[in-house]
Amino acid sequence: MSLLELCRWIQYSPLLVEMRASPWLFPVIATVHLFGLAVIGGAVLLVDLRLLGLGIRGQPAAYLVRDAERWLIRGLMIAIPTGVLLFMCFATKYYYLTFFWVKLAALVVVLLFTFSIRHRVALAADQDGGRGRQRMVAMVSLALWTTVAMGGRYIGFP
Ligand code: HEM
Repeated sequence: MSLLELCRWIQYSPLLVEMRASPWLFPVIATVHLFGLAVIGGAVLLVDLRLLGLGIRGQPAAYLVRDAERWLIRGLMIAIPTGVLLFMCFATKYYYLTFFWVKLAALVVVLLFTFSIRHRVALAADQDGGRGRQRMVAMVSLALWTTVAMGGRYIGFP
């Protein structure tokens, strides 16, 4: 079964036909998806602004990172399942949208980056100088999350 055939099978399965028939289910799921994005956005900005030398500086970076990553994970636990449901509703439409695959690729890269390089650099933000590296890490993180968000917004149009 090809990926396109799988998308077709998903989109026309009884459950998804039922979901699409509902006038309110997709908008409600999309709203919860947006809520997940807001939580993710807040958690990402808390740390990246700190690494840029802005934002909250009244507490040790290590505490801020740990708290923010807990909220990032909570946001992902809302955004990913709702995103998958939104995708399943019109799977063949998104299959043909390059921006959907760009969004998913950027999401995989940013999650790997967030829980490896960025995590280490942010935890050590108060110890070692490395201001230039911290700023670079923050800008890479923000650029990747912006790509995910723009991909999400764009796929909602056509
Ligand atoms: C976890 C990080 C994610 C972020 C930051 C994100 C971001 C976004 C944004 C900004 C939108 C546009 C919302 C709007 O303005 O209506 C959106 C919509 C959408 N996202 Fe995500 N998303 C994420 C995860 C996912 C995942 C994992 C999937 C699927 C596998 C997905 C599938 C979709 C779909 C199908 C839409 C709806 C487009 C439409 O309205 O037709 N998202 N997302």
